[in-house]
Amino acid sequence: MPRATVHVCSRCGLHSGQWHGRCPGCGAWNTLAEEPVAGATRSGPAARGGARARGAPPVPLPLSEVGATPLTRMPSGLGELDRVLGGGIVPGSLVLLGGSPGIGKSTLTNMVLGNLHEAAHRTLYVSGEESAEQVRLRAERLAPGALGVPVLAETDLEQILAVLAAQQPQVCVIDSVQTLRSAELSGAPGSVGQVREVAARIMELCKERAVAVILVGHVTKDGALAGPRVLEHLVDCVLQFEGERERPYRELRALKNRFGSTSEAALFEMRQGGLVEVLDASARFVAEATRAPGSVVLATMEGSRPLLVEVQALVAPSELEQPRRVVSGFDRNRLALVLAILGRHGGIPTGRADVFVNVVGGVRVDEPGCDLAIALALASASRGAPLRGAPRACFGELGLTGELRWVGHPERRLQEAGRHGLDEVIAPSGSGGEACQAASLREALALALPARAPARGRRIAAPAEAAEAA
Ligand code: TYD
Ligand code: MG
Repeated sequence: MPRATVHVCSRCGLHSGQWHGRCPGCGAWNTLAEEPVAGATRSGPAARGGARARGAPPVPLPLSEVGATPLTRMPSGLGELDRVLGGGIVPGSLVLLGGSPGIGKSTLTNMVLGNLHEAAHRTLYVSGEESAEQVRLRAERLAPGALGVPVLAETDLEQILAVLAAQQPQVCVIDSVQTLRSAELSGAPGSVGQVREVAARIMELCKERAVAVILVGHVTKDGALAGPRVLEHLVDCVLQFEGERERPYRELRALKNRFGSTSEAALFEMRQGGLVEVLDASARFVAEATRAPGSVVLATMEGSRPLLVEVQALVAPSELEQPRRVVSGFDRNRLALVLAILGRHGGIPTGRADVFVNVVGGVRVDEPGCDLAIALALASASRGAPLRGAPRACFGELGLTGELRWVGHPERRLQEAGRHGLDEVIAPSGSGGEACQAASLREALALALPARAPARGRRIAAPAEAAEAA
């Protein structure tokens, strides 16, 4: 006999027959909330398994005999988005697009549907957040195709499913998953139960009728997809749209992709007429790079593509007991590591200074090859002297013993730097003949920093030569 209610953890999604103060699954306190059991059991795996068990048991097939229809992807009209997706939108796939408010999720999805509509695909835009008029006002700013997209302003899940079944679009956008509500559950829109129910039922329909669905989802303050962590397991592809709201650059990357790679990232710029793909990102960032102390160009890899970005650092005396460590564009722990290596193996202690490091342009760098750039930017900032031959490019990973380690695709990074007029790239040993090779942080510092500090009185940290002389 089914129970009338079930208790669901809002953090890990655990189902429990009874209430617990502390979730037995993830250990979080006060996260279990009571929900009607109807939706949970109907779409839950147990129910599906139970239903199957009554019929004839299915027969497993050797993989070679499984019929695999070749994927015919639909180009979205935005080449960069297609690259991140792995070559276009896969029919019947479920994509979750996450990002903080105002980053441009609605603009991106409006544009995609507009392009698909122009290419004679059947589309549907379901808006739970904005009225149809508001969606129209946005579409007026975009390419003409955007105005041809059918729009449905609705938050009732059952109604939306009925429209989907009747209209049979090839691509549908749901903006956003947190605003939809199933009448079968009593929870508020955006609660774990509702979000899971909404996504599961949309998925059932989209797989059955080969509708590609893009679910727009919100991101919380700490950067996680709000509420629906459970969704990440359910969907085929998780895209993250990020950037600083004050700056025009927006980065799109895949966190999960069943139909492509997760290392690709695309750069867009928000303009008056919507989002524009930035194809010459390296050229822009190098042109904007300063020659001031604390600036270095990092030759990084964004998936399969090399990219030059400027890394800037500021090291200033601190009045705080615990000096500030502020980073933007890469992992905070990486800074802690580089600071420790710089102090121990580069002779540049920063223990009593506030340290700020920023990857310019709102780009996020997620690879170990950025270590050397952070270290050189910090060393240059701390010395108050620009790097020799600035703007100077570099790449390489720092080991805990102060060695500079080889990172992937050195030839492509060097080629990209060369293409933009940066020839003397500081790189790990084994990176190729054209690079200024260094085997350790100490050697890299000796190559990059001028022999003598210009203003001794303004030094904050001990200079690198002290370590070299030692
Ligand atoms: P929006 O797509 O509504 O963001 P989200 O759905 O992620 O909350 O748009 C965000 C911002 O983009 C908004 O502040 C206005 C701006 N914008 C432009 O600068 N140019 C444009 O052509 C459009 C449509 C929006
Ligand atoms: Mg929006």
